Amino acid sequence: MTFSPKQEEAMLLLKNGELRRLNIFEGSVRSGKTYVSMIMWAFWTAQSPKEKAYLMCGKTLTTLKRNVLEPLKALLGDSFDYSVSKKEGTLFGRKIYLEGAANAEAESKIRGMTLMGAYCDELTLFGEDYFVMLLSRLSEYGAKLFATTNPDNPSHWVKRRYLDNKNIDLLSIKFSLEDNVFLPAEYVKSLKNEFRGVFYDRYILGKWVAAEGRVYESFSLDNIIARAELKERLSENKLITAAIGVDYGGNGSASAFVLIGIDAGFRNLYVLSEYYDKRNRSAENLIKNFEAFTLDSKSKIPPLQTAYCDSAEQLLIKSFRQAVGKYGVEVKNALKKPINTRINMLNRLIAAKRFYVAEDCVHVIEALQNAVWDERQLHKDVRLDNGTSNIDSLDALEYAFERYENRLFGF
Ligand SMILES: Nc1ncnc2c1ncn2[C@@H]1O[C@H](COP(=O)(O)OP(=O)(O)OP(=O)(O)O)[C@@H](O)[C@H]1O
Ligand SMILES: [Mg+2]
Repeated sequence: MTFSPKQEEAMLLLKNGELRRLNIFEGSVRSGKTYVSMIMWAFWTAQSPKEKAYLMCGKTLTTLKRNVLEPLKALLGDSFDYSVSKKEGTLFGRKIYLEGAANAEAESKIRGMTLMGAYCDELTLFGEDYFVMLLSRLSEYGAKLFATTNPDNPSHWVKRRYLDNKNIDLLSIKFSLEDNVFLPAEYVKSLKNEFRGVFYDRYILGKWVAAEGRVYESFSLDNIIARAELKERLSENKLITAAIGVDYGGNGSASAFVLIGIDAGFRNLYVLSEYYDKRNRSAENLIKNFEAFTLDSKSKIPPLQTAYCDSAEQLLIKSFRQAVGKYGVEVKNALKKPINTRINMLNRLIAAKRFYVAEDCVHVIEALQNAVWDERQLHKDVRLDNGTSNIDSLDALEYAFERYENRLFGF
């Protein structure tokens, strides 16, 4: 194994017995945190008591597998075995439990454990309650925690209660993108171009900063496309999937449908058409308009197969299903991924010039231009939703594309 100089420094801490009870590897994306921390975790575990219990957890078991278990297996071969379905493994002969931290029962799963060690992947995505429980389970003498994270809001509990807390036996090891000498220069350059504003500061510079100003800072005229040009582009590179996102209006908000398409190779995301109605006359009216929008969309964009709806209104979803099933369009609940995951996805596509809105989708355009972070809640990364900007079109847009995160970002 070869290490970057920064990783060598971290390895020395292990060798010299300078690790603390909590060891947090923080910093930029792709900076080599996971790589070195999982090796340190493995070596530390190998030197620790054999009969004790160890835990590895990620936001979900799927992300843990992708980010840590698979790469660790590739490095260690026979010294590491695991089964995600059994939620356990063995690492240098030690028993390892595997858990996802995101689901509702996560906390109860670790409630009874007594742990010698724990490894946490992407700590800021964990719930604080889970982490507090986890620390209380790390009760063996000499127990240690290893965790990786990217920076988030400076008021995030990880920063406020742990990293900034002088009374905790904690070591923070900071990594920047430049520390990873294994990345090709071209890749680093394109990565830097993908992030803007607050996300640049966090994911490239590795700083804990609050979000201010426009949410979609780099959305510009370049992302707005004339119908004729759109037609030409789509004849060269055909759409392979399309979906409608639906957000319903309640008091004071509008109903919005947004049709999106994604072209071959999951390269570009297009907003193809929209429906926006602030009047919200009646449910019947909405169902009728949804049917008309779906029929029109399906006739123009045949790959359209699914509409993703705000799951809050199951009765409406049922009616929608009845209305459009005959056109071969399925109606499903929106995933509703965390808002900042959706915002970050779109911002990456915008910055990489992979996102285009048809010129006549004026509500989506206006919504993207006007969305701002809520200045009164700077500690929380909240998109302002006080009726002055159109959040409904943004929600509908996000419901339509959020499912494709893995394919859009190539993992
Ligand atoms: N010492 C090394 N030798 C070979 N490859 C390495 C080394 N360190 C890191 N890499 C590779 O660099 C890439 C990024 O490293 P890693 O996944 O550890 O970054 P990270 O800081 O955890 O990033 P993120 O915040 O995006 O999770 C990975 O593909 C990893 O395999
Ligand atoms: Mg990582």
